Amino acid sequence: MPARRGAATRRRPPAALMAPPQPRRRGRQWLARHRADAFVRRARSDGYRSRSAFKLAEIDRRDRLLRAGMTVLDLGAAPGGWSQYAAQRLGGKGRIVAVDLLAMEPVPGVEFLQADIRDDDLATRVMARLGRPADLVICDMAPNITGVAVTDQARYLELLEAVLECCRAVLREGGTLLVKLFEGEQAQSFRAHCESLFTRVATRKPPASRSQSREFYLLAVGFKPARTAGA
Ligand SMILES: C[S@@+](CC[C@H](N)C(=O)[O-])C[C@H]1O[C@@H](n2cnc3c(N)ncnc32)[C@H](O)[C@@H]1O
Repeated sequence: MPARRGAATRRRPPAALMAPPQPRRRGRQWLARHRADAFVRRARSDGYRSRSAFKLAEIDRRDRLLRAGMTVLDLGAAPGGWSQYAAQRLGGKGRIVAVDLLAMEPVPGVEFLQADIRDDDLATRVMARLGRPADLVICDMAPNITGVAVTDQARYLELLEAVLECCRAVLREGGTLLVKLFEGEQAQSFRAHCESLFTRVATRKPPASRSQSREFYLLAVGFKPARTAGA
């Protein structure tokens, strides 16, 4: 992947463009389906801020990602469902740092950084809070869609590059990455890149992820930093 551009030369879209679409813009059909969704109701009754928490829970049940004592970085964390679930699994032992462009209500046991994952100083700020390299990076990020295919693809690629750059800077050797992808060419080339950086790469589509959605999760285990990957 090409090197990331410096802060001075980067033209970043306004934060609002990168935020997920707000419900009021999603239309009546989306709202009706969302309200009727069993996972939405369960999230509410279980105290999770998002139905996404169940996607992480389902992958965790299968792949045993989270345990007490770990250091975890949650990228694109707001409103905080994944962070809440991770904090429960760590049970107060270990460290979790969550990052998002948007503000996030505090989650007990989670340190929050309001930042863009493409920020040049992000890794330094994350490492200062984690205290040691991360055992696990989880990323449920979704760029906002403009409808202009070329722009959307370029933005998506930029985010994926930033995720890998973040891994290079903060993930420990042997560590794990769980990242949301959307079916398409970019996901394929991202997967190929991950295959050169990790020992094992697999895809996951947890039941809580709507079958009609193009999203799926890539699980990459056994991070090989550049010196061992020969990259
Ligand atoms: C689907 S939401 C995450 C939901 C979260 N996993 C949960 O369970 O509550 C995607 C998040 O990615 C964030 N995001 C998008 N682009 C970002 C960027 N460049 N840097 C940081 N966060 C970003 C959005 O602000 C949004 O909150």
